[in-house]
Amino acid sequence: MKQRPHTICLMMTTLDGKILGHKWGNSPQMEKLRGKFEEVHNIIGNNAWIVGRTTMEKDFTNGAKPIYKAGTHAISRTDFVANPDATSFAIAIDAHAKLGWEKPYMQGDHVITVLTEGVSDAYLAHLQEIGVSYIFGGATTIDLHVTLEKLRTLFDIRILMVEGGGHLNGSFLNAGLIDEYHQLLLPVIDGNPENSGVFEIEPGNKKFDAALLKLQEVKRIEDDVLWLTYQL
Ligand SMILES: NC(=O)c1ccc[n+]([C@@H]2O[C@H](COP(=O)([O-])OP(=O)(O)OC[C@H]3O[C@@H](n4cnc5c(N)ncnc54)[C@H](OP(=O)(O)O)[C@@H]3O)[C@@H](O)[C@H]2O)c1
Repeated sequence: MKQRPHTICLMMTTLDGKILGHKWGNSPQMEKLRGKFEEVHNIIGNNAWIVGRTTMEKDFTNGAKPIYKAGTHAISRTDFVANPDATSFAIAIDAHAKLGWEKPYMQGDHVITVLTEGVSDAYLAHLQEIGVSYIFGGATTIDLHVTLEKLRTLFDIRILMVEGGGHLNGSFLNAGLIDEYHQLLLPVIDGNPENSGVFEIEPGNKKFDAALLKLQEVKRIEDDVLWLTYQL
């Protein structure tokens, strides 16, 4: 079996299991609670994080549209390592090249975007020009096993934080690719029945009835937040 990074899924939720933090208002106490995610991310202290296209678009690239380089020649579908010296990584799963990248780093981490081979040459040419790394996760769909093996082999990523949203987490869980789950349980109730949960898997694709976890640690941290650690 090929090597892949050890994966740690980190999420913050309300007591009723909801994850959409932007719906919880902007009181100073809520801002403080939302800040726990970054605090714990830094405590875990890892150098690579991956999110779904929606989370990257909503929370990081602010809805930026794709940029295409004009007058581009044909580009072969081989993985592109823009910066071999990079030591920390912000990674997006973006099969259809919907994200707009203007710079090769996000929050100080080198950007790697995971694409499929059907994306346009002009999109790839722009990424090459600005120095964003890209890898192909498959011809038409993304194989997460292949993706993780490439992240390990091409970028030497040994531990990967899987940080949402629900669909990205769900696809990792469904593929058997989550090793640890860390949940920050906030003293908050959302109450909106439509808000998504931590793991969202299309009913027709689900490969198991329910995932069973082993509780490894419970920590009470500041502001009545529980930090729960589970092994899968
Ligand atoms: N509470 C927390 O700790 C926390 C953490 C992170 C995010 N969030 C929140 O979660 C929300 C977004 O969650 P979400 O579930 O809607 O979206 P998401 O998981 O961030 O992104 C989903 C999208 O990513 C792509 N994707 C994910 N897995 C894929 C796979 N295996 N293969 C191919 N494409 C894949 C698809 O993009 P395409 O549609 O382009 O194909 C999919 O529609 C945001 O509001 C964010 O703020 C909360």
